[in-house]
Amino acid sequence: MTDKLIIRRPDDWHVHLRDGAMLKDVVNYTARQFGRAIVMPNLSPPVTTIKAGRAYRDRILAALDPSLDFTPLITCYLTDTIEAEEVVRGHTEGVFTACKLYPANATTNSAHGVTNIKNISSVLEAMQKSGMPLLVHGEVTHSDVDIFDREAVFIDEVLIGVIADYPELKIVFEHITTQDAADFVNESDSNIAATITPHHLDFNRNAIFQGGIRPHYYCLPIAKREKHRLALRKAATSGSPKFFLGTDTAPHAIGAKESACGCAGIFNAPHAMESYAKTFDEEGALDQLEGFASEHGPKFYGLPINEGKITLERRKTIVPESLKVIDTEIIPFHAGETLEWGIS
Ligand code: DOR
Ligand code: ZN
Repeated sequence: MTDKLIIRRPDDWHVHLRDGAMLKDVVNYTARQFGRAIVMPNLSPPVTTIKAGRAYRDRILAALDPSLDFTPLITCYLTDTIEAEEVVRGHTEGVFTACKLYPANATTNSAHGVTNIKNISSVLEAMQKSGMPLLVHGEVTHSDVDIFDREAVFIDEVLIGVIADYPELKIVFEHITTQDAADFVNESDSNIAATITPHHLDFNRNAIFQGGIRPHYYCLPIAKREKHRLALRKAATSGSPKFFLGTDTAPHAIGAKESACGCAGIFNAPHAMESYAKTFDEEGALDQLEGFASEHGPKFYGLPINEGKITLERRKTIVPESLKVIDTEIIPFHAGETLEWGIS
């Protein structure tokens, strides 16, 4: 039995760090575990200009514990009217690592998202040309599509068309939740990859309704049936370079979650690596964790892998019931549970 795992320092290819007081209280949870993170731009207002991207990066760096070695990688939020020139110049100037596509109203702060993919054709064309990755929240939003089908329908209605029109465009299908998405990515060319969260590997949709409504298990895309969770576990642990770590850590104050209309998002940053280690251990695939967490992402983004190492050890780690943030609390993923892995 493996009891100790020394791996390259991992990166998180999908995080929500928020802004203001919340940013200060959450950023170091991510920076303690990861060398770099792709930071989502769904602030209010969203990050849609180079100027806003630079300013947000400065605020993240200012909030960072100076003893931690962490690099935030900023993304640009695509809107119907965004200019290709701004996006690509942001990439060339080293401000934007990638662009994020939120279909309008798909999730938190996505009201300014894209209403029709045709509206951003010149942007996608320019991104393809410059090698800038497109990060996709892959869900359709029509009210006649069942919430559990939104990802699968997105593949058919949007993604296949985008790939046909921009065959060289690098695309990350973010936080995939279905067997359909895992299969689709597996069968696509090497410019199509996906991130997988620790929570979608850990529970299926029953968890949201176990004995009552459990808002801390609610996120978007919503967790699906067990067969989909099993397909995600297979993809993540397969060793395929198309799948890599992206937590989608999405903190919301307890009151915003435990509400008549609770926000989507799971705050998993504090014990993300311990949670992934749990899954890989249960799958008998600890030897694949380093590729998933530390190698496949940088390779896809064309960045060097991190120099440092981390040590994961088989030892009991108790996850707090809640964490103090600003003047309130946040319930973290695995709250109150004992995990079998710890980071030294
Ligand atoms: O659960 C989610 N929370 N999914 C998203 O796509 C956005 C995120 C957030 O920003 O809260
Ligand atoms: Zn997200």
